[in-house]
Amino acid sequence: MVSKRWYGKNGKCAFMASDKLAPETIALAADHGGVELKRLLRGDLEAGGFTVLDLGTDGPGSVDYPDYAQAMALALAEGRASRGVLICGTGIGISIAANRFAHVRAALVHDAFGARMARRHNDANVLVMGGRTTGPEIARDCLGIFLSTEFEGGRHARRVAKLAP
Ligand code: RB5
Repeated sequence: MVSKRWYGKNGKCAFMASDKLAPETIALAADHGGVELKRLLRGDLEAGGFTVLDLGTDGPGSVDYPDYAQAMALALAEGRASRGVLICGTGIGISIAANRFAHVRAALVHDAFGARMARRHNDANVLVMGGRTTGPEIARDCLGIFLSTEFEGGRHARRVAKLAP
């Protein structure tokens, strides 16, 4: 559970975990195309009081994005994190890979509106962005909105339920 406190652009982080509850664990994973953005968002999450499960990669060396999508799917299935963020160069490959796992609803997002709707209508549990397509401030906005927006339920719950095999 994440508090809805919104810190805006204070130069540090745009979002904070609730101080009343145990810190939520957010898993992060990226290929080499997303490693820099992952590093930035990890710092923001930690500054905001979240516990981060960093599944790699940790450097610029070339790796395969399906391996990181799979690591994310496993972490969520095992309850080691409640939600996650995946990043590759465009976000495309890693979102395709992540959505092959039935319990993952990975939303590739490019702006605040997409991030909000991914939570409100799709109950996305993984935010996906492109390290080569989305700038750092947009990405920070998207992450803050993803973490602070509730699923609307209702008719959307019926549709989300139909995603299950
Ligand atoms: C890696 O070069 C690149 O293909 C990958 O990061 C991603 O953009 C794939 O969809």
